[in-house]
Amino acid sequence: MPAPAAPKRGSVDRLVALSRDDMARVDALVRDRMQSPVSLIPALAEHLISAGGKRLRPLLTVAASRLCGDGGSGALKLAAAVEFIHTATLLHDDVVDASSLRRGKVAAHLIWGGASSVLVGDFLFARAFELMVETDSLRALQILATASRVIAEGEVLQLTRAHDLSLDQATYLEIISAKTAELFAAASEAGAVAAGAPPEQVAALRAYGLNLGLAFQLVDDALDYGGQASALGKNTGDDFREGKATLPLLLAVARTAKTERAFWERVIDAKDQTEADFRRARELIIGAGALDATLSLAQSYVDDAKRELGRFPADPWRLALEELADFSVSRTS
Ligand code: IPE
Ligand code: IPE
Ligand code: MG
Ligand code: MG
Repeated sequence: MPAPAAPKRGSVDRLVALSRDDMARVDALVRDRMQSPVSLIPALAEHLISAGGKRLRPLLTVAASRLCGDGGSGALKLAAAVEFIHTATLLHDDVVDASSLRRGKVAAHLIWGGASSVLVGDFLFARAFELMVETDSLRALQILATASRVIAEGEVLQLTRAHDLSLDQATYLEIISAKTAELFAAASEAGAVAAGAPPEQVAALRAYGLNLGLAFQLVDDALDYGGQASALGKNTGDDFREGKATLPLLLAVARTAKTERAFWERVIDAKDQTEADFRRARELIIGAGALDATLSLAQSYVDDAKRELGRFPADPWRLALEELADFSVSRTS
């Protein structure tokens, strides 16, 4: 008889259940603060926000503050601010990446235009800052202001460097650390700060978030080749069509340089591609073991993230954060 399938590791079920009430209040805040008398703003924001999304970053803020013993409203405002920052970056990112699908819906810029998307993104950033100021925590404001600046730096660095097939792994990691991991780190850190946690706990939660965010983006880059658009709510192959030098591509190019150089130069450097080229690239990437290598690097960051939780008592919030770390590598959506 075949062995029973191993239970799928990593789920956000416990985290979602534990934070249900807190997250309902965060969602209410988000809905309230996306309003504006300028009707295009709530219309465009609603399109993206009501499409859902995993809400991972505000979950991190809520969980970090709860793990550190807090139940106050400051963390909820910071969690809403974190989701606004994330949503703003998605609006900007889909313009920059010319992506057509987000959260299973047509990207906002294809409905309202790039200018509207960018400007509503700016509005959401500003809303985030209003919420932070309301918490009276200069430290939280500093953490999230810095994160916003670092994300922008990461996106610009990517714009200038990430189309280069000789990009080194260190620069790739610098890019994903800035554009993605920094907000995961700041979301966790801000939750701990809202709880008045001691410095070691604040630092541990920041490190947890940073490692989780690195793993999350590595997996995202793998899913762009190995995932399903229906589950992801965004198209696969966007990175390839854009010629973005993510780790799966960089590893595959290095590992197949002898035989496939002309192919990579045509499809990435010269951006002369067809749909069949995407399928070929995906086969080469999988055949070269580049997806597996990307996922094992992600797993090593997940292990580092979970290690940071070691200094907290083994309560349900800690368990939920450990499971979230496992989810980030096993996820398909
Ligand atoms: C998308 O993040 C942007 C990346 C950092 C890859 P998520 O996958 O968390 O997006 P939503 O919020 O769930 O849609
Ligand atoms: C993720 O960017 C980071 C930000 C949105 C700042 P990507 O371009 O890699 O993510 P997706 O694939 O569009 O979600
Ligand atoms: Mg993108
Ligand atoms: Mg992008």
